Amino acid sequence: MTNIKPMEMSGKRAIVTGGASGIGFATARLLTSLGARVVLADLDEDGAEAACDRIGAVAAVTGDVSIDADCAAIAERAEQQLGAIDILIHAAGIGDEKAPAETLDILAWQRVMDVDMRGTFSINRACAARMLPHGSGAIVNVSSICGLNAFPGRSAYGAAKAAVNHLTKTLACEWGPRGLRVTAIAPAYTRTPMVADLIERDVFDPADIIARTPVGRLAEPDEMAKAAVFLASDWASYITGTTINVDGGWAAFGAAGAVAQ
Ligand SMILES: NC(=O)c1ccc[n+]([C@@H]2O[C@H](COP(=O)([O-])OP(=O)(O)OC[C@H]3O[C@@H](n4cnc5c(N)ncnc54)[C@H](O)[C@@H]3O)[C@@H](O)[C@H]2O)c1
Repeated sequence: MTNIKPMEMSGKRAIVTGGASGIGFATARLLTSLGARVVLADLDEDGAEAACDRIGAVAAVTGDVSIDADCAAIAERAEQQLGAIDILIHAAGIGDEKAPAETLDILAWQRVMDVDMRGTFSINRACAARMLPHGSGAIVNVSSICGLNAFPGRSAYGAAKAAVNHLTKTLACEWGPRGLRVTAIAPAYTRTPMVADLIERDVFDPADIIARTPVGRLAEPDEMAKAAVFLASDWASYITGTTINVDGGWAAFGAAGAVAQ
């Protein structure tokens, strides 16, 4: 039998986008607590600096993942700070306005596509360009249950996250032969500032979500972090090109009405 070692993150060098808040912050905190050296990248400069100080990350880099030049600069700065990049956790993203497709503002559609879809492509390839020469590494994208099934009124976000799932497959196939794994997690509703904002704007009612979630509650950011860190670790050495639901059973449930009988 293979000698299985404890999951090891000590000395790993990681970029976490969206590290100032929510799922990205929780993942960066878990990585540093396990001994990884982490660079946070975020649009929110003050938030990223504060997060960096809070968790003892190596540095915070400001950038917009929807801008190619920013993605290149994030990867370059992180490589300078860390020496090399072993892991990219790409958690930067935005939610959307819930609006009927026929009246949805096309600029709002475009912004979601630019950040959530194009941003994923840009930061994946900017980091991969620096990871591929080393012949090993792992990228974990943060998708959504909205990329798997349809959520009426959320056409842009759903399309962008479905694209993230597909990009994850394609990039895994392109880069797998050169030692770079690409995976994604698909979170269900997780208690982050993004979700607090959606609740405040009446995009959804948490009671409705809880009623159709088999585990009977919203997720905590740490539960996403644990899945992302597992996928980034050597424990997931034979997992690539796939999106793993971290959804409390959301996607498994297909009946009408609430879960509880
Ligand atoms: N919270 C949920 O329930 C949930 C569910 C499914 C998927 N997701 C996904 O998880 C990811 C993280 O979401 P969260 O809930 O932690 O949100 P959040 O708003 O708490 O954090 C997102 C972070 O991304 C940063 N960001 C936003 N746009 C950016 C850009 N253009 N460039 C760089 N940084 C940018 C923000 O400044 C923020 O720090 C997103 O991709 C989101 O779509 C979240």
